[in-house]
Amino acid sequence: MAKDKISISAWTVILSHVLLSRDARWKTLVVVEDIAFYRSCLNYCDKRFGVCRTLGKLPDFCLLWLIQRLVAYGAPQHFVLRKRAIRAQAMQSVEQGAEQIVVIGAGFDILAFATAQAFSQVRCFELDVPSMCEHKVQVLKDCYGKLPGNFFAAGVDLSLVPMRDALAALPGFSREKATLFIAEGVVMYLTEESVSAMFSDVHAAADSSEVLFTAIAKPPKPKENIWSRIRSLFLGYNKEAFSWCMEAVQMAGFLRERGFGEQYHNGYVELQKDLRTQKELDQLERQNGEYLVYAASV
Ligand SMILES: C[S@@+](CC[C@H](N)C(=O)[O-])C[C@H]1O[C@@H](n2cnc3c(N)ncnc32)[C@H](O)[C@@H]1O
Repeated sequence: MAKDKISISAWTVILSHVLLSRDARWKTLVVVEDIAFYRSCLNYCDKRFGVCRTLGKLPDFCLLWLIQRLVAYGAPQHFVLRKRAIRAQAMQSVEQGAEQIVVIGAGFDILAFATAQAFSQVRCFELDVPSMCEHKVQVLKDCYGKLPGNFFAAGVDLSLVPMRDALAALPGFSREKATLFIAEGVVMYLTEESVSAMFSDVHAAADSSEVLFTAIAKPPKPKENIWSRIRSLFLGYNKEAFSWCMEAVQMAGFLRERGFGEQYHNGYVELQKDLRTQKELDQLERQNGEYLVYAASV
């Protein structure tokens, strides 16, 4: 990613939160406390990036429609629901003794920062490529002033730096502390080799670790229509092409080989099913869908 760029996919995730917070049907899904920060991120991006400024001028319904055309039907709701599910699991892990959390490819996500604020005994780290990390920290400082002493954001490109080196460089990271690693909407952008090394490194990095991450079963079909071309154009803006995917049924085996036991996975449709009409569910079923996985070291 060029030095001054942000991740368009990270921007799309928070844009979806802000759009749904203004939508009569969906606004109760969104965590109210997070929205002020996500709005600040959007304002920050509007001021600096023409692509965000231009798209941000479109009416809400048009943006929601566009996100669904470019990502998948139900994607804005999925982004909100996956964040809620990740937060709930993270809170449970902290209650059960996790003393460190590491958010990998954090984008504009607020979880590490919010956890650091709420739990002074938990050390909270986040990693993202250097340019993205710099922009995010700037918005955090603009919004909250001083950052908590137990929060640390590191700029590191995980396609260039092995995860074990990135973790070793985190100030105060301790392998003796029970650690929750979170990778939301990230592994699909990495190569198979990087993903494999990442899980092995994460397992080796702490005596007791949990992983919470999303994966895609299949990448969208290669350029076959105008929408897939536009999608590639957007992802190509900062070289975020889908790379790694794995069917949900194969995930437990993949994780077992790297020292983790899968506890559960939740699919795209499962996350939304209680909120949808039958007609909508039929449409959701046709998506390739991203799923959320939680596993613990064995
Ligand atoms: C889809 S966004 C998800 C952001 C955030 N996790 C969320 O769900 O709100 C993907 C994030 O992964 C980061 N990322 C992609 N490739 C990366 C790499 N090689 N090293 C570090 N971060 C990377 C991007 O910069 C971006 O912030």
